[in-house]
Amino acid sequence: MILITGGAGYIGAHVALEWLGQGEEVLILDNLCNSQRAAIERISTLAGKRPEFIQGDVRNRRLLDTLLHDYPIDAVVHCAGLKAVGESVREPLRYFDTNVGGSLTLCQAMAQAGVFHLVFSSSATVYGDCATLPINEACATGQPTNPYGMSKLMSENIMKSVASSDPRWSIGLLRYFNPIGAHPSGLLGEAPTSTPNNLLPYLLEVASGQRPHLSVFGNDYPTLDGTGVRDYLHVVDLALGHVCALDTLRGRRGVSIWNLGTGRGYSVLEVVSAFEQVTGIKIPLSIEARRPGDIARCWANPQKAIEELGWQASRSLQSMLADAWRWQSNQLGQVDVRQAN
Ligand code: NAD
Ligand code: UD1
Repeated sequence: MILITGGAGYIGAHVALEWLGQGEEVLILDNLCNSQRAAIERISTLAGKRPEFIQGDVRNRRLLDTLLHDYPIDAVVHCAGLKAVGESVREPLRYFDTNVGGSLTLCQAMAQAGVFHLVFSSSATVYGDCATLPINEACATGQPTNPYGMSKLMSENIMKSVASSDPRWSIGLLRYFNPIGAHPSGLLGEAPTSTPNNLLPYLLEVASGQRPHLSVFGNDYPTLDGTGVRDYLHVVDLALGHVCALDTLRGRRGVSIWNLGTGRGYSVLEVVSAFEQVTGIKIPLSIEARRPGDIARCWANPQKAIEELGWQASRSLQSMLADAWRWQSNQLGQVDVRQAN
């Protein structure tokens, strides 16, 4: 059985669904601070099988000890955490407590229970402003400019130290690039509870009339059209990466680091234009100043994951955008996707 912390959230729910589809038993631990119980129902509907679900906190050591004792858990995927960069600047202690404290407590409980396979949701943010592109895993980690990024790097460092202290550990640090999209059914996707910070959720709210325009943060970057370039990755591809990572970890020891990205970057204006083509909806834009802390360009070299995991992202930008819009439209009860994939 696989324990997925944060498994009611955007990425964890897709990971849970993939494993259930492969006949694995899944236990989700989530305190629902940024998700809803309905996600568990949706996972069950799509998988035709119900995951075990416990509402609780990953920092609760006693609860973790009980779960690791009561269920036949042999691996953990640690997705639980807080992820809003701006909020992390305003509330650093909450971010360190949840993201670093959660990782620490989880590793302690796992060691005590003798469970040594761990997959961690890390982020390309740990590279900072990497001088060479595409970014491969050998690039030095940078200086994160915000507590969120620091908390990911600190968690990675804790896990590296833990693995060097005991050869039984097998830990995969998955550095996600920019996950977007939704399950193609339109039943599972990202559901921001407050004003979104990331490009896609914000764009979807503009498209559905909830916000007047999309702010483009800077058009004077040294990129093809002056706007920021990122490696957008379909959340279903990302979820499949977790399955491949754990399969690989079962045959090795120590810490393994894998970039999960497509290897291709798109600018903000390219994303907007592709979205307009896929949905037929015009997105009003407002060109604004650069967002503090943003970098110009960031995309992965996914070669290591391709070779070692046998994993490669295959879904196009168009299918990411069509799936995201289907999910958004379903949320609003107005299915309105012109073109499927
Ligand atoms: P999300 O907010 O949708 O999911 C996180 C889940 O963790 C939520 O369901 C939340 O309720 C739960 N959670 C938070 N604190 C908890 C706690 N103390 N105990 C138990 N559950 C708790 O976010 P997501 O996009 O699914 O991200 C999952 C992980 O991937 C996070 O660690 C995030 O930092 C990381 N990540 C996300 C992205 C991205 O763009 N979405 C990029 C890189 C890394
Ligand atoms: C951001 C976080 C990063 C985190 C990642 C996933 C910052 C500085 N970085 O990355 O730490 O791991 O999300 O959660 O917040 N953009 C707009 N208008 C918008 C929103 C975004 O033009 O309303 C632009 C940005 O300037 C950027 C691109 O779109 O060029 C992507 O932005 P975003 O989706 O926020 O992701 P990242 O900045 O890559």
